Amino acid sequence: MEKSNKGSSSGSGKKSPKSSTARQSSGSMDQGSGEQGSEQKSLLQEFFIDSLKDIYWAEKHLTKVLPKMQRAATTEELKDLLEEHLDVTIEQISRLEQIFEMLGKKAQAKKCEAMEGITKEGEGVIEDTEDESMTRDVGIIMSAQKVEHYEIASYGSLAQLAKTLGLEEISGLLEETLAEEKEADEKLTMIAEENINFEASEE
Ligand SMILES: [Fe+2]
Ligand SMILES: [Fe+2]
Repeated sequence: MEKSNKGSSSGSGKKSPKSSTARQSSGSMDQGSGEQGSEQKSLLQEFFIDSLKDIYWAEKHLTKVLPKMQRAATTEELKDLLEEHLDVTIEQISRLEQIFEMLGKKAQAKKCEAMEGITKEGEGVIEDTEDESMTRDVGIIMSAQKVEHYEIASYGSLAQLAKTLGLEEISGLLEETLAEEKEADEKLTMIAEENINFEASEE
């Protein structure tokens, strides 16, 4: 009796923490799986919004850098192309602001170290090349293409991420910008290959 009492009491003693552990763990599992679903989505959404802030900073920064590149360029065709892309960039900034609004978020820029680095390097190229030389334009085109490739990588990923998050309309807007960046990149390649590279090789 004593033994069985002890046993039952110790048994119930063991049982109660066990059952409370079981309850806790099943409780946390239920909560976990429930929260995990929404948490995963919100973490990805948070990452998505953070990446939008990064490219928003980059685009705004480019509105200051593109005019400098344009002033430093030698040929009219490169100057025109950079001017055209400045207008496109200003539209892309509005498009990003529209996206922030659609997400119910304030448009916020977060410093993009990569874009700062690429454009700093571009300024160095301008310093290292002679005024009114074709080699200057070769350097500017190379820098501008590095910028475009960063943007292509960013907008390509962002458009895809928007799709994953079920944000179809936003994805469409990001794809519009992606197409513009690709077009700018192609135009830069074209003017380099048609004329500027050859003329620079004669300097
Ligand atoms: Fe852009
Ligand atoms: Fe661009």
